[in-house]
Amino acid sequence: MADEILQVENLVKHFPLTQGVVLKRQVGQVKAVDGVSFALRKGETLGLVGESGCGKSTLAKLLMALERPTSGAVRFEDRDVFALSKAELRRLRRRVQMVLQDPYTSLNPRMTVGDIVGEPFAIHGDPEGGRRRRVQELLEIVGLDPDHVNRYPHQFSGGQRQRIGIARALALRPDVIICDEPVSALDVSVQAQVMNLLAELQKEFGLSYVFIAHDLAVVRHISDRVAVMYLGKIVEIGDEEQIYDHPTHPYTQALLSAVPVPDPTRRGTPIVLEGDVPSPTNPPSGCRFRTRCWKAQDVCATEEPLLEIRAARGPEEAPGGATTGSLHPSACHFADEKISRERS
Ligand SMILES: Nc1ncnc2c1ncn2[C@@H]1O[C@H](COP(=O)(O)OP(=O)(O)O)[C@@H](O)[C@H]1O
Ligand code: SF4
Ligand SMILES: [Mg+2]
Repeated sequence: MADEILQVENLVKHFPLTQGVVLKRQVGQVKAVDGVSFALRKGETLGLVGESGCGKSTLAKLLMALERPTSGAVRFEDRDVFALSKAELRRLRRRVQMVLQDPYTSLNPRMTVGDIVGEPFAIHGDPEGGRRRRVQELLEIVGLDPDHVNRYPHQFSGGQRQRIGIARALALRPDVIICDEPVSALDVSVQAQVMNLLAELQKEFGLSYVFIAHDLAVVRHISDRVAVMYLGKIVEIGDEEQIYDHPTHPYTQALLSAVPVPDPTRRGTPIVLEGDVPSPTNPPSGCRFRTRCWKAQDVCATEEPLLEIRAARGPEEAPGGATTGSLHPSACHFADEKISRERS
């Protein structure tokens, strides 16, 4: 579709699991990303949330074509990024950038800030003339002192270092930025400042973001839509209000019940997620969430629930079976029951 800049179709990434030091034997597969589909619309922020190890960073690297998928496709402006020539891939690299989690390890400590922010120009062979001025302009855009171009990363605070990372990501005027937990390593007060900066830059430059976090609270204000991931799959995806006000997947409900609610009258009994996330080498049969799901029934062990819109069987069902209201895809056999109850 014309308003979609990035399309992900049934993306799968399995890593070989090996044993032995000298003679490596493959003993299994880590199913890091296991059938993910979604689209990123121009100018929107899609929040991508899930516990550690559920495949978010692997998905991010696939979107950047930094990893090759086991199967599936990523299309940027309708072209499969894994079928691009070297020259085309270089052009893609200008347009899709990444901001990483840890501003302490993602910046080279031996390079000055000017060199770090200006490096994309050098990599892409942009003319040297005026480079310093462009770097200074970028520093100013992200709220840093342009006179600090000759300083080193350790001379900045965590929040400032993340601003350096953002300036670098902006250098080549990208259309899409994949933000992989950009604020997870920062103090809460600094998190808000960096989130505000990203929101301002989005408006100013018309950027589209995939914004990754392990916590639903973090992405709420910046996201137009949110996708919730569990063990390599998206289990629920919808508009911001749909996910936060009408979550239908038990996993989303559990994540949300851990989020502080400003209005105390709306706080329900917290749902505590029991047990650990199962290993992605051997995910549970049927619904992958069933080993931790308090709503699980027999069918959950035998039939995999697809990520689809389940029509509400309720009073709001319109003639012809069409439904009204805020229905969105959810991979739970019983997602519709929640909606029916909510509406009756
Ligand atoms: N290069 C790799 N080789 C083998 N396993 C990997 C590799 N990268 C990631 N994994 C595994 O894939 C799973 C998903 O990891 P990751 O995408 O980093 O999750 P997240 O970012 O959500 O924490 C984890 O079990 C991780 O150990
Ligand atoms: S399909 Fe079953 S196990 Fe999976 S989330 Fe729904 S109720 Fe829980
Ligand atoms: Mg990660």
